[in-house]
Amino acid sequence: MPVPQLTSLVEDLCSREHDESKLYERAVELIFETARSYDWVGIYRVEEDMLVLSAWKGPQATEHVRIPLDQGICGFAATSSQTVVVDDVNADPRYLACFPQTKSEIVVPISAGGEVVAEIDIDSDRVRAFDNLDREILERVADLIGKRVSELRS
Ligand code: SME
Repeated sequence: MPVPQLTSLVEDLCSREHDESKLYERAVELIFETARSYDWVGIYRVEEDMLVLSAWKGPQATEHVRIPLDQGICGFAATSSQTVVVDDVNADPRYLACFPQTKSEIVVPISAGGEVVAEIDIDSDRVRAFDNLDREILERVADLIGKRVSELRS
Protein backbone atom coordinates (compact mmCIF):
# COMPACT_ATOMS: atom_id res chain seq x y z
CA MET A 1 0.00 0.00 0.00
CA PRO A 2 1.54 3.35 -0.97
CA VAL A 3 1.23 6.18 1.51
CA PRO A 4 -0.54 9.32 0.27
CA GLN A 5 2.69 11.31 0.86
CA LEU A 6 4.10 9.57 -2.19
CA THR A 7 2.37 12.09 -4.44
CA SER A 8 3.95 15.08 -2.67
CA LEU A 9 7.37 13.40 -2.77
CA VAL A 10 6.98 12.85 -6.52
CA GLU A 11 5.69 16.40 -6.99
CA ASP A 12 8.81 17.69 -5.29
CA LEU A 13 11.00 15.42 -7.43
CA CYS A 14 9.33 16.67 -10.62
CA SER A 15 9.92 20.30 -9.66
CA ARG A 16 13.70 19.82 -9.47
CA GLU A 17 14.67 17.00 -11.86
CA HIS A 18 15.71 18.07 -15.35
CA ASP A 19 16.77 14.73 -16.81
CA GLU A 20 14.11 12.27 -17.96
CA SER A 21 16.10 9.10 -17.18
CA LYS A 22 17.01 10.37 -13.71
CA LEU A 23 13.39 11.32 -13.14
CA TYR A 24 12.41 7.69 -13.79
CA GLU A 25 15.23 6.37 -11.58
CA ARG A 26 14.31 8.58 -8.64
CA ALA A 27 10.57 7.95 -9.07
CA VAL A 28 11.14 4.19 -8.96
CA GLU A 29 13.20 4.59 -5.78
CA LEU A 30 10.54 6.76 -4.15
CA ILE A 31 7.74 4.33 -5.01
CA PHE A 32 9.73 1.30 -3.85
CA GLU A 33 10.89 2.91 -0.60
CA THR A 34 7.57 4.54 0.28
CA ALA A 35 5.31 1.60 -0.46
CA ARG A 36 7.13 -1.16 1.31
CA SER A 37 4.69 -3.84 0.26
CA TYR A 38 5.66 -3.56 -3.41
CA ASP A 39 8.14 -6.29 -4.27
CA TRP A 40 9.45 -5.02 -7.61
CA VAL A 41 9.00 -1.58 -9.19
CA GLY A 42 10.08 -0.60 -12.69
CA ILE A 43 9.51 2.09 -15.31
CA TYR A 44 9.52 1.12 -18.99
CA ARG A 45 9.88 3.74 -21.72
CA VAL A 46 8.10 3.47 -25.04
CA GLU A 47 10.62 3.43 -27.88
CA GLU A 48 8.99 2.91 -31.26
CA ASP A 49 7.27 -0.50 -31.03
CA MET A 50 9.08 -1.58 -27.84
CA LEU A 51 8.93 -1.03 -24.11
CA VAL A 52 12.47 -0.57 -22.82
CA LEU A 53 13.26 -0.91 -19.12
CA SER A 54 14.60 2.45 -17.96
CA ALA A 55 14.82 2.00 -14.16
CA TRP A 56 13.95 -0.68 -11.63
CA LYS A 57 14.22 -1.49 -7.94
CA GLY A 58 13.76 -4.89 -6.33
CA PRO A 59 15.55 -8.04 -5.23
CA GLN A 60 16.41 -9.22 -8.73
CA ALA A 61 16.78 -8.08 -12.33
CA THR A 62 14.19 -9.09 -14.92
CA GLU A 63 15.08 -10.72 -18.22
CA HIS A 64 12.27 -8.66 -19.80
CA VAL A 65 14.29 -5.52 -20.47
CA ARG A 66 12.63 -5.08 -23.88
CA ILE A 67 8.96 -6.00 -24.40
CA PRO A 68 7.25 -5.66 -27.80
CA LEU A 69 4.17 -3.42 -27.49
CA ASP A 70 1.93 -6.30 -28.57
CA GLN A 71 3.06 -8.56 -25.71
CA GLY A 72 2.41 -8.92 -22.00
CA ILE A 73 0.33 -7.00 -19.52
CA CYS A 74 2.85 -4.20 -20.02
CA GLY A 75 2.18 -4.06 -23.76
CA PHE A 76 -1.58 -4.12 -23.18
CA ALA A 77 -1.43 -1.19 -20.71
CA ALA A 78 0.71 0.90 -23.06
CA THR A 79 -1.38 0.29 -26.18
CA SER A 80 -4.73 0.74 -24.42
CA SER A 81 -3.52 3.79 -22.37
CA GLN A 82 -5.25 2.22 -19.39
CA THR A 83 -4.16 1.07 -15.97
CA VAL A 84 -4.21 -2.72 -15.77
CA VAL A 85 -4.60 -4.50 -12.42
CA VAL A 86 -4.12 -8.26 -12.48
CA ASP A 87 -5.16 -9.91 -9.21
CA ASP A 88 -3.74 -13.30 -10.14
CA VAL A 89 -1.08 -13.26 -12.86
CA ASN A 90 -1.19 -17.04 -13.27
CA ALA A 91 -4.80 -16.77 -14.44
CA ASP A 92 -4.06 -14.11 -17.09
CA PRO A 93 -2.98 -15.39 -20.52
CA ARG A 94 -1.34 -12.01 -21.35
CA TYR A 95 1.13 -12.38 -18.49
CA LEU A 96 4.86 -12.56 -19.27
CA ALA A 97 6.49 -14.22 -16.28
CA CYS A 98 9.46 -12.44 -14.75
CA PHE A 99 9.79 -13.82 -11.24
CA PRO A 100 8.42 -17.17 -10.01
CA GLN A 101 7.18 -15.60 -6.76
CA THR A 102 5.03 -12.89 -8.43
CA LYS A 103 1.29 -13.29 -7.83
CA SER A 104 -0.25 -9.94 -8.84
CA GLU A 105 0.71 -6.94 -10.91
CA ILE A 106 -0.33 -3.33 -11.68
CA VAL A 107 0.77 -1.38 -14.75
CA VAL A 108 0.05 2.36 -14.98
CA PRO A 109 0.70 4.24 -18.23
CA ILE A 110 2.50 7.60 -18.16
CA SER A 111 1.24 9.98 -20.84
CA ALA A 112 2.85 13.16 -22.14
CA GLY A 113 1.46 15.33 -24.93
CA GLY A 114 -1.46 12.95 -25.44
CA GLU A 115 0.60 9.80 -25.95
CA VAL A 116 1.91 7.05 -23.71
CA VAL A 117 5.66 7.64 -23.25
CA ALA A 118 6.36 5.23 -20.40
CA GLU A 119 4.68 3.12 -17.72
CA ILE A 120 5.05 2.12 -14.10
CA ASP A 121 5.09 -1.66 -13.59
CA ILE A 122 4.78 -3.13 -10.08
CA ASP A 123 4.85 -6.78 -9.06
CA SER A 124 3.71 -8.22 -5.75
CA ASP A 125 4.34 -11.62 -4.20
CA ARG A 126 0.75 -11.59 -2.87
CA VAL A 127 -2.45 -12.34 -4.78
CA ARG A 128 -4.77 -9.25 -5.10
CA ALA A 129 -2.17 -6.90 -3.65
CA PHE A 130 -3.42 -3.78 -5.47
CA ASP A 131 -6.66 -2.04 -4.47
CA ASN A 132 -8.35 1.18 -5.59
CA LEU A 133 -6.17 3.33 -3.36
CA ASP A 134 -2.99 1.91 -4.90
CA ARG A 135 -4.45 2.60 -8.32
CA GLU A 136 -5.52 6.19 -7.47
CA ILE A 137 -2.19 7.13 -5.95
CA LEU A 138 -0.15 5.53 -8.72
CA GLU A 139 -2.29 7.22 -11.39
CA ARG A 140 -1.66 10.58 -9.70
CA VAL A 141 2.07 9.78 -9.62
CA ALA A 142 2.00 8.83 -13.33
CA ASP A 143 0.17 12.05 -14.12
CA LEU A 144 2.79 14.17 -12.32
CA ILE A 145 5.64 12.35 -14.08
CA GLY A 146 3.89 12.68 -17.46
CA LYS A 147 3.45 16.44 -17.04
CA ARG A 148 7.13 16.80 -16.18
CA VAL A 149 8.22 14.66 -19.13
CA SER A 150 6.07 16.80 -21.37
CA GLU A 151 7.85 19.96 -20.12
CA LEU A 152 11.29 18.34 -20.46
CA ARG A 153 10.62 17.21 -24.03
CA SER A 154 9.23 20.55 -25.26
N1 SME B 1 4.86 -9.23 -16.26
C1 SME B 1 5.04 -8.22 -17.27
C2 SME B 1 6.47 -8.21 -17.77
C3 SME B 1 7.38 -7.33 -16.98
S1 SME B 1 7.90 -8.01 -15.51
O1 SME B 1 6.73 -8.06 -14.59
C4 SME B 1 9.04 -7.05 -14.78
C5 SME B 1 4.04 -8.42 -18.39
O2 SME B 1 3.28 -9.36 -18.38
O3 SME B 1 4.04 -7.60 -19.31
